[in-house]
Amino acid sequence: MMVSVLLPKNVVLVASSVQIADYYPAERYDLLQIRDSLNSTANLHSRWTGPPCIDNVSNWFGVSCSNGHIVSLELEEIQLAGILPPGFLQNITFLNKLSLRNNLLSGSLPNLTNLVNLETVFLSQNHFSDGIPFGYIDLPKLKKLELQENYLDGQIPPFNQTSLIDFNVSYNNLDGPIPQTRVVQSFPSSSFEHNSGLCGRPLEKLCPISPPPPSPAIPPPSPPPPPKEDKKKSLKIWSVALIAAGSALVPFLVMLLFWCCYKKVHEKEKSNEGQAGEGSAHLSEKKMPDSWSMEDPERRVELEFFDKTIPVFDLDDLLRASAEVLGKGKVGSTYKATLESGAVVAVKRVKNMNALSKKEFVQQMQLLGKLKHENLVKIVSFYYSKEEKLIIYEFLPNGSLFDLLHESRGVGRIPLAWTTRLSIIKQTAKGLAFLHQTLHSHKVPHANLKSSNILIFRENDIYRAKLTNFGFLPLLPSRKASENLAIGRSPEFPEGKRLTHKADVYCFGIILLEVITGRIPGNGSPGNNETSGDLSDWVRMVVDNDWSTDILDVEILAAREGQNEMLRLTELALECTDIAPEKRPKMSEVLRRIEEIQPMIEEND
Ligand SMILES: *[C@@H]1O[C@H](CO)[C@@H](O)[C@H](O)[C@H]1NC(C)=O
Ligand SMILES: *[C@@H]1O[C@H](CO)[C@@H](O)[C@H](O)[C@H]1NC(C)=O
Ligand SMILES: *[C@@H]1O[C@H](CO)[C@@H](O)[C@H](O)[C@H]1NC(C)=O
Ligand SMILES: *[C@@H]1O[C@H](CO)[C@@H](O)[C@H](O)[C@H]1NC(C)=O
Ligand SMILES: *[C@@H]1O[C@H](CO)[C@@H](O)[C@H](O)[C@H]1NC(C)=O
Ligand SMILES: *[C@@H]1O[C@H](CO)[C@@H](O)[C@H](O)[C@H]1NC(C)=O
Repeated sequence: MMVSVLLPKNVVLVASSVQIADYYPAERYDLLQIRDSLNSTANLHSRWTGPPCIDNVSNWFGVSCSNGHIVSLELEEIQLAGILPPGFLQNITFLNKLSLRNNLLSGSLPNLTNLVNLETVFLSQNHFSDGIPFGYIDLPKLKKLELQENYLDGQIPPFNQTSLIDFNVSYNNLDGPIPQTRVVQSFPSSSFEHNSGLCGRPLEKLCPISPPPPSPAIPPPSPPPPPKEDKKKSLKIWSVALIAAGSALVPFLVMLLFWCCYKKVHEKEKSNEGQAGEGSAHLSEKKMPDSWSMEDPERRVELEFFDKTIPVFDLDDLLRASAEVLGKGKVGSTYKATLESGAVVAVKRVKNMNALSKKEFVQQMQLLGKLKHENLVKIVSFYYSKEEKLIIYEFLPNGSLFDLLHESRGVGRIPLAWTTRLSIIKQTAKGLAFLHQTLHSHKVPHANLKSSNILIFRENDIYRAKLTNFGFLPLLPSRKASENLAIGRSPEFPEGKRLTHKADVYCFGIILLEVITGRIPGNGSPGNNETSGDLSDWVRMVVDNDWSTDILDVEILAAREGQNEMLRLTELALECTDIAPEKRPKMSEVLRRIEEIQPMIEEND
């Protein structure tokens, strides 16, 4: 895939955040051979991309590095299946530990001849067959060799390296005499047991004097090797997936009863990495927090409603509603409130706005309340008191783009199709372009665009996207207070430069990259908390090194006909995340280009 030809010439690497000086292509190549020829439950396709080593750190699952070289590979108990590729690890010459134990590997044991630094080799509990390579006796530093519980046959090579202190070949089909070297003889009989044809010390069984007498005097006691109990239970992943899919549809019916359909503002204002313990954040409360009412002794406070067609309620109704925390973020907490009338709304309790005058708050809310667009979450009403500011939104029941992209990655996950991703991107672009047009005089109209602020709900099996938590920038007292908004992560923000609409464009570019790569921004690789720079830096680096298909989320890699579009979107994303705000395209231009990209995708709306 030649994405590099599509890229603007001015793409630059941010050297400080990602270093690839010590990257060894031949080592990487060997691991990619493994990734691409074996199956496992570890999803190596999405976890083994980019450079395997950055100095002493690796973001690759099961890999450790030292000074840019791979030194250890441990892939245990992940149902790794298949035959090891030819040339297995041959160029990873600094490797000192290899563990593949408790998997489903078959075929011959690997040829480890070049790997003179190996100290530990654990290949036990697999389905390896054939003999133990004689080359292993020349590994000069070998300390531990575990080959038990395979289907190996042939004889044990005469190991005699004094480094060897741990050795096990039990539960195989080996035969012949156990080598009488000093080293091999130092191991207990349990290292050799359950091989029908092995004989000689330390086993009790004497070896026949050659030639073996045909007499049945010593009947070969060949008890069938004990059945290996199947330790590798294959998980019934699809049943789990189906249940998950089924239960996701249930709330849908409930939602139709109401004027509103909005869930959550999962507001995982997580500043960088993920949604750890996300489910557990859903603590239920019986009533809205008490403090709300205490702050305001007056009764029957009228709320202003922007849309007269919806059931009107007052503050009292809201306080009596049963509430459930949807998310706690840096801008405030969001609750799902179910009113006694049955109506459901999402209530955001904003923080850090105490300096704000009523007039300022009301003006901004009235402005935002008037915005009507199919890709914006509707603001239903608001409430202001000195201590308490509430913004009441329509409630959407499903979740956010963040959930859709990153939730339950791994076993049992239902992949998010490319056409769906493109549709969500397009809707997001429409919503943002609309904000930029209608709030033209605002410094940064949205200012908090990120995947957890793009709510997704399904309507007749079509995914709809709506932006939320926009328009907060004028409400915050200082630049410092706005660093928790998504624009706080744009390059111009920490430098104290003037903020413009282009800060939103930057955030949009990050969302594009998140959708394309399936990675959490600011997080080097999924499932790993080592930060290796920002997502856009990472993508630039990968693309510059011509690993362009590496960036694509493995879930969409299969959609081959879409790959050109994906790479065109990548190009656009890199323009949107240009360090220089003035070089980023305008949102109207971005939308135009996204609409151009998809002539072959059937339209969802
Ligand atoms: C390993 O390195 C040698 C020499 O550098 C090269 O010829 C060979 O193709 C490499 N093998 C792999 C699998 O990268
Ligand atoms: C990596 O680790 C080695 C020793 O294990 C150390 O000498 C070297 O300085 C480390 N490099 C970096 C960049 O931390
Ligand atoms: C890996 O899994 C795929 C699909 O389940 C299958 O077609 C393929 O043969 C498997 N490959 C190996 C090496 O087991
Ligand atoms: C193992 O690999 C080495 C080096 O690549 C090669 O010389 C040797 O013939 C191989 N041994 C076997 C048994 O294939
Ligand atoms: C094995 O190594 C030991 C010590 O290095 C040595 O004395 C012995 O002769 C070697 N060979 C055998 C067959 O034990
Ligand atoms: C060798 O492996 C077998 C099977 O896992 C185990 O029962 C035995 O204790 C091991 N022996 C040694 C010396 O590690």
